[in-house]
Amino acid sequence: MNIKIVKDYAELSNVAGEIITDLLRENPYCNLGLATGGTPLGTYQYLTARFKAGEFSMRDVRTFNLDEYCGLPRCHPESYHSFMYSNLFAHVDIREENMHIPYTEGCDLQEQCERYNALLDSHRIDLQLLGIGSNGHIGFCEPGTPFDRETFVAQLSEETRRDNQRFFNSFEEVPRTAITMGIGNIMQARRVLLIASGEAKAECINQMINGPVTERVPASVLQNHPDATIIIDAAAASRLTGKAAAQLG
Ligand code: PGA
Repeated sequence: MNIKIVKDYAELSNVAGEIITDLLRENPYCNLGLATGGTPLGTYQYLTARFKAGEFSMRDVRTFNLDEYCGLPRCHPESYHSFMYSNLFAHVDIREENMHIPYTEGCDLQEQCERYNALLDSHRIDLQLLGIGSNGHIGFCEPGTPFDRETFVAQLSEETRRDNQRFFNSFEEVPRTAITMGIGNIMQARRVLLIASGEAKAECINQMINGPVTERVPASVLQNHPDATIIIDAAAASRLTGKAAAQLG
């Protein structure tokens, strides 16, 4: 893993945004894996600014989101469809037919998993952006998810639902399930870029980097990925031990 420690959230967003900008300029036909949640917001703002400055086009880019809640209509403000429209898609020139997010509204969820998985099988992702849950999850692959799992309906852990409660009016409103890419899909991406900010992530970041590769910490699987870049701010790096901690100075 290539680990880069930056000062704060603003720098994290710029560095991650710059890596994605470089890819979009080099390969305007790339397949880009996207993430939702609080962490990528600054990265999407950076990308929007660079797009508005005329530095790349997303006309021929295909995007593939990691996951979508079950039980929320697509138009719900907290659905990941809404998130992607508000925070990126509405501001760039991506074409609707090139945006892919698991579909969960009023349909057979199992069938949708199979469809999404087939789509991922036929479009290898060039770069997959990832956040990390405070319990070490990636996508909605919670602790205990087998490493070879492909797109599936995940049960959200209580911890994840508590972490995401801030986006809803109450804990009860937080969905209990989601369709997510599996770790098997994520590991197929040519390159992964994981971003983490803040002290709440410090423990799982240290486990991901320095702990054993174990299904108990899903993100630890990235130790086995041939091209994984991890960008963390000083707060998320604050419990790092070992070689990577040397960067803390
Ligand atoms: P966050 O979520 O960016 O809102 O902290 C990360 C995740 O759960 O993957």
